[in-house]
Amino acid sequence: MTGPAGDPAANGVAAAAGAPAARRPWVVGVSGASGTPYAASVLRGLLAAGLPVDLVVSRAARLTLLDETGIAWRDGPGAWPEALAGWLGTSLAGRPRADRDEVVAGVDALVRVHGADNLAAGPSSGSYPTRGMIVVPASTATVAGIALGLSKDLLQRAADVTLKEGRLLVVVPREMPFTGATLRHLVTLHDTGAVVAAASPGFYAGAADAQALVDFVAGRVLDAAGVPNVLFRRWAGELGAARTDRPRPGTVDTGTALDNGLTAGPGREGDRDGARARGPGRQGGDADGG
Ligand SMILES: Cc1cc2nc3c(=O)[nH]c(=O)nc-3n(C[C@H](O)[C@H](O)[C@H](O)COP(=O)(O)O)c2cc1C
Repeated sequence: MTGPAGDPAANGVAAAAGAPAARRPWVVGVSGASGTPYAASVLRGLLAAGLPVDLVVSRAARLTLLDETGIAWRDGPGAWPEALAGWLGTSLAGRPRADRDEVVAGVDALVRVHGADNLAAGPSSGSYPTRGMIVVPASTATVAGIALGLSKDLLQRAADVTLKEGRLLVVVPREMPFTGATLRHLVTLHDTGAVVAAASPGFYAGAADAQALVDFVAGRVLDAAGVPNVLFRRWAGELGAARTDRPRPGTVDTGTALDNGLTAGPGREGDRDGARARGPGRQGGDADGG
C-alpha cells in the first residue's frame, strides 16, 4: 500500500501517539540466598512509589521464604496474592498506578508474578518493556549464572535480557565469606554494567532494630535504581545526629528492648513493623537465617 493511510511507519507513529502509556515494570528477582526481608522491603518501596513490579521467585527462594517467614510460596494464578500480601505485611489493593493517575481495585495491574520455570513469560524477551531489574537477594549461584549468561531459569534469563538491552540491573549478593569465584563473578557483573549493591547495612542512620537495618539496605538498593524512597534516614553531614533520636545503647532495659523488637520474638498486638518483618506464619526466631 502507498500514501499516508497505508504507510505502516506513519500508522505506527499515530498508534504510538494515541496509545496509553505501556506498563513498564521493574522486574524483581528473588533468588535463594538468605535475606527475604530485603526483598520484601524493596518490593514495598517500589509499590509505595507507585511503580509496577514483575516478580520472579526462584525455586530455591521458596525454601528461604518458607524458612524466614513461614510462607509457602506458590506462583499459580489466585495463589500468590495472598502469599505476597502476607510476605509484605500489607494490603496491595488500592495502590496508585504509575502509568495512570488512577487507583486500581486489585493487585493484578500493579504486580505480575511469573513462575521461575516459565521461560515464555514477558521478561524473557527484550521486546517486553521494563525499567530494569533488581535481584534481591542474589545467591552466589544466581550471581554466577548471570555473570556466565547461563539463563537456567526465568530469573537468570530476565537478568541477561536486562543487560543485553542496556537496562539497569542491580544485584544484591548475600553471602559471607565470598569465594574467589564469586568475587570474580561480581567483578564481571560490574564490568558488564550491573550495579553490585551488597546487602551491607550502614549504622550511621541510627537504626534501632533489625528492620531498620533491612530498610537501610533496601533504601540504598532503590537509590541505585533511581527510585525515590524514605526507607532510611539519610546522612545530613552531622556526626551523631541520628543517635539523638533514640535511646543510647545501655540505657534500654531488657523489657523495653523486647517491646521494641530489638530481640527476636513474637510481635506485640498492633506492632506493625514486627508483623511486617515476620509475616503471618512466623513463630519467632531469627529474621535472617542461613
Ligand atoms: C535456608 C537457606 C539459606 C541459604 N542462604 C544462602 C545465602 O545466604 N547465600 C547463598 O548464596 N546461597 C544460600 N543458600 C543456597 C542457595 O539457595 C542455593 O545455592 C541455590 O542453588 C540457589 O538457587 P537460585 O540462585 O536459583 O535461587 C541457602 C539455602 C537455604 C536452603
